Amino acid sequence: MYETILYEVKDQIAYITINRPKALNALNSTVLTELIDAAAKVEADPDVRVAIVTGEGRAFVAGADISQMRDMETMEAKDFMALGHKAFNAIDFNKKPFIAAVNGFALGGGCELSMACDFRIASEKAKFGQPEVNLGIIPGFGGTQRLPRLVGKGMAKYMIYTAEMIDAAEALRIGLVQKVVPAEELMAEAEKAAKLIISKAPIAILTAKAAINYGYDMDMHSASEWEALNSGAGFSTEDQKEGMTAFLEKRPAVWKNK
Ligand code: CAA
Repeated sequence: MYETILYEVKDQIAYITINRPKALNALNSTVLTELIDAAAKVEADPDVRVAIVTGEGRAFVAGADISQMRDMETMEAKDFMALGHKAFNAIDFNKKPFIAAVNGFALGGGCELSMACDFRIASEKAKFGQPEVNLGIIPGFGGTQRLPRLVGKGMAKYMIYTAEMIDAAEALRIGLVQKVVPAEELMAEAEKAAKLIISKAPIAILTAKAAINYGYDMDMHSASEWEALNSGAGFSTEDQKEGMTAFLEKRPAVWKNK
């Protein structure tokens, strides 16, 4: 049982909902600690294939909790930021995919939480931004690192230096989100993506995530070898034989997760 998030599993999807709507789901230490626990549950539960992260009410997450941060001293703040990194790395480097269903404000730590997920589906009402310089600080939960990797250095610098809030259409244009849908279709669209992933060879999905995540920061030669090794390892699974046989026999594959 959690205090600040909701966790529910249905049809192989774990739903993680940040649940502090009165504070626009601001991330305090409790939320971050509970997210670490929830991410570990996703990883450990054989009945979960994909997680969807969303926010209760009108915000996805409006940032790290400013009331908790205001009086922090340097080392306390550093520990708080490290806790944020621990939580978001538990999602980014989780062996299973996480989808961000961005229902509203995704600002500061909220934009950073969405970026730690594997991809982002946004409601037309979503708003993104890294407004930390308005508060006298810089992003601390990965914004200076994940944002340039997703949208390029120039756009990341523009967003971080100006603190401009952008709408979902602009987030789509710059590649920060992968799809934008009307608010009432958001969860159905996220579930559609989750179900598509669930319909694929389970080990192949996990291997694809690891190949992308760990190869991303390698030099191209090492990354090519890393991919070849991972792709080759797929041939040790029963699902590779099944997938290719099913294709040749013109029938749907029946995955064994072996
Ligand atoms: N921390 C704590 N409380 C927050 C919050 C936050 N990040 N964001 C909103 N809230 C609270 C407000 O204080 C308010 O509380 P009360 O009702 O008790 O006054 C409540 O949520 C509703 O917010 P508003 O009244 O401000 O709602 P609005 O519709 O007028 O504005 C908003 C919405 C534009 C999102 C505005 O709330 C806002 O600008 N929030 C802060 C955004 C921000 O600066 N985020 C970055 C935080 S720093 C960070 O995240 C650092 C990092 O990288 C880790």
